[in-house]
Amino acid sequence: MNINVKGSKDNYDIFIKNNLLDNLEDYLDANKNYIIIADDQIPNIYIEKVKKFCINNFIIRFPAGEKSKSIKQYSIIIDKLIDNLVKRDSVIIALGGGVTGDLAGFVASTFYRGIEYIQIPTSLLAQIDSSVGGKVAINSNSVKNAIGSFYPPKKVLIDPTTLTTLPKRHFNNGMAEMIKYGMIYSKDFFEEIKANNVLENIEYYIYKSLRIKKHFVESDEFDRSIRQILNFGHTFGHAYEAYYNYDKYLHGEAISLGMLEIVNEEIKPSLLEILIKYNLPTKDSTSKKVLIKLIKNDKKNTSNYLNLICVDAIGKGYIKKIKISEL
Ligand SMILES: NC(=O)c1ccc[n+]([C@@H]2O[C@H](COP(=O)([O-])OP(=O)(O)OC[C@H]3O[C@@H](n4cnc5c(N)ncnc54)[C@H](O)[C@@H]3O)[C@@H](O)[C@H]2O)c1
Repeated sequence: MNINVKGSKDNYDIFIKNNLLDNLEDYLDANKNYIIIADDQIPNIYIEKVKKFCINNFIIRFPAGEKSKSIKQYSIIIDKLIDNLVKRDSVIIALGGGVTGDLAGFVASTFYRGIEYIQIPTSLLAQIDSSVGGKVAINSNSVKNAIGSFYPPKKVLIDPTTLTTLPKRHFNNGMAEMIKYGMIYSKDFFEEIKANNVLENIEYYIYKSLRIKKHFVESDEFDRSIRQILNFGHTFGHAYEAYYNYDKYLHGEAISLGMLEIVNEEIKPSLLEILIKYNLPTKDSTSKKVLIKLIKNDKKNTSNYLNLICVDAIGKGYIKKIKISEL
């Protein structure tokens, strides 16, 4: 299953295929120099598979986790590239979850003013969301994704069989993003995920999710208008993440709580049912007052207005511009 994503500068292909990692010669160029960037929790079996097809390879590993999306880790990787005489025509391979994709993609976007990179996402969240759309970033000390760029990959290679080693909690974390796609764009898709065992036919569900992401990315590449609908659940979700200092909830878990804060009583039971099915959090005792204070103090909300993403009927997300004081 392939998808082509059109951008203002370049188009790129997403390939989704079980056992794709065993046939990388179909997707990589044997004459190129590849730098594989992966965190230290990615099973070696995937590193070995990628290494096998990159004759001229060089590997950089970094500590797993959100804290590695930092200026410090960025700088360590840049120094390694320079020390190893990596040239402008080399290609970075981001092998792993969303943290790896965001960090390695940001390195690629800035190293010698930009070198090519390929996304090989191995977490569900990365396969259905973060590896596509070209947003790459690291965090400042206080603001998530504060330092970043729009820098699309050369291609995205998805092997759904890598999900067999992904811890269950991280699989469910990715499911939160899939549920979000249903909520903002397609009631039918939402009902499908609610009724079926997604894992049994995961290639199809990854494909369907990426078709939805493609729609938003192509309509608004630089996130100035309708792409923001993808941020459904993020206003309160980010507040939950920040309140717990990024320790308690994974991104998708926080988004689950954030979606629940926004929906009306009519659709809440359906959302609750599907979140419970995928073991996602549905309750948190943090007071709304505290969360709203965090949203008001969010350094990204510079103006007095906020684009709140709302869903009043499943499958129909829209942007509502409100005064922060109205929240
Ligand atoms: N750029 C975007 O558009 C975008 C969109 C959504 C989220 N994000 C970012 O994505 C990040 C979260 O990504 P994530 O949830 O993938 O986290 P992650 O990258 O930390 O991966 C989660 C954990 O799973 C491990 N892992 C990954 N694949 C595995 C596999 N196949 N088998 C075993 N272990 C595996 C990783 O080593 C890591 O420990 C956040 O930083 C978030 O801001 C970016």
